Amino acid sequence: MRLEFLENGPIRVEGERFTLRVGDKEEVLEKPRVFLCRCGASGNKPFCDGTHKRIGFQAPGGTLEVEGD
Ligand code: FES
Repeated sequence: MRLEFLENGPIRVEGERFTLRVGDKEEVLEKPRVFLCRCGASGNKPFCDGTHKRIGFQAPGGTLEVEGD
């Protein structure tokens, strides 16, 4: 798995099918990618809702390779 930290923005995760578990709820998302909030201000956590632009969030871009999954 590869995570991409977008400059001044969220974390992009590529895939095909994501299973989100929060508390006792589970949701399957069939989509090619999701964007996870990195700024902490999203109103739709754990996903990015674009708020990072409004608050002027700044952070460098980068990647994280997850091996062995
Ligand atoms: S990174 Fe987009 S709302 Fe937090």
